[in-house]
Amino acid sequence: MPFPDRAEIQVAESVQSVRDAVSRAKWSGHRVGFVPTMGALHVGHVSLIERARRECGYVAVSIFVNPTQFGPNEDFNRYPRPRDADLAMCRDAGADLVFYPTVETMYPVGHRTFVEVAGLSEILEGAIRPGHFRGVTTVVTKLFNIVQADRAYFGQKDYQQQSVIRVMARELDMPTDVVTCETIRDPDGLALSSRNAYLSESERKSGLALSRALRLAERLAGEGELDIPTLESAMRNELENTPGVTLEYAVIVNHESMRELTAAEPRMVALVAARVGSTRLIDNMILRLPSGTIT
Ligand code: PAJ
Repeated sequence: MPFPDRAEIQVAESVQSVRDAVSRAKWSGHRVGFVPTMGALHVGHVSLIERARRECGYVAVSIFVNPTQFGPNEDFNRYPRPRDADLAMCRDAGADLVFYPTVETMYPVGHRTFVEVAGLSEILEGAIRPGHFRGVTTVVTKLFNIVQADRAYFGQKDYQQQSVIRVMARELDMPTDVVTCETIRDPDGLALSSRNAYLSESERKSGLALSRALRLAERLAGEGELDIPTLESAMRNELENTPGVTLEYAVIVNHESMRELTAAEPRMVALVAARVGSTRLIDNMILRLPSGTIT
């Protein structure tokens, strides 16, 4: 249940007001949870805020459509920005504070410092969206430094993103723990995404091919299929045979390094990316092999 009798949440637009509010919460002995978002919130985002609410005495959410993670021909300008609905969702999910900065606050003219996780940022999503993860790691570093949370919550939906952020936080000794939360889906299997708003009725149907392909790989692996090329081509066929879907990749990787596998391992992740009309969709599933299959 949301918190119907909650006072209005605090909306902070400056770095200093976030720091002041978080300092007060820490002084009161609260653990601070943080959920970074780009807004256009849906039940997936809400699940992260609710988890933070359960685990932390004070919950901060950021809403910032981060220009540095969008390519020149991507959807930065048309990305949805439903401010009032987003603030209401944060309040109902139990957030205490929403950081809602302007681009000028986050990137004053002349900004020139960037954070990059080499290698991991250049494969898969990074290969298709050059510079994307550099923008993500830069903004997340800034947000971590501003909020100084004990824990930050990310979705498994963006598997590579949480991997890149995990590596960054570890290698730069950031004091915020990275927590990854399960992907929330519509009942038909489509992973919730702010970009689903771009899909027409028929495109949405086509988009179901992503979760179908992943479920197929999951089922085959569960039945003991250990041949990676077989699993990958099963996913590829599912995507390529769906009208309206243009496959970008369908691969199986190591859960940590995200290295593409040639032989099965106990913990693997299947990742798919495809275009449906002009919208890019990504999804993933952790593959579980029958116990005792490989050691
Ligand atoms: P955004 O796309 O708004 O997502 C914010 C968080 O919600 C991310 O951690 C994402 O993985 C998670 N999320 C999205 N869809 C989800 C779903 N269906 N189930 C569970 N979690 C889901 O990711 C970003 O923003 C940005 O790159 C950001 C990290 C905020 C940096 O700008």
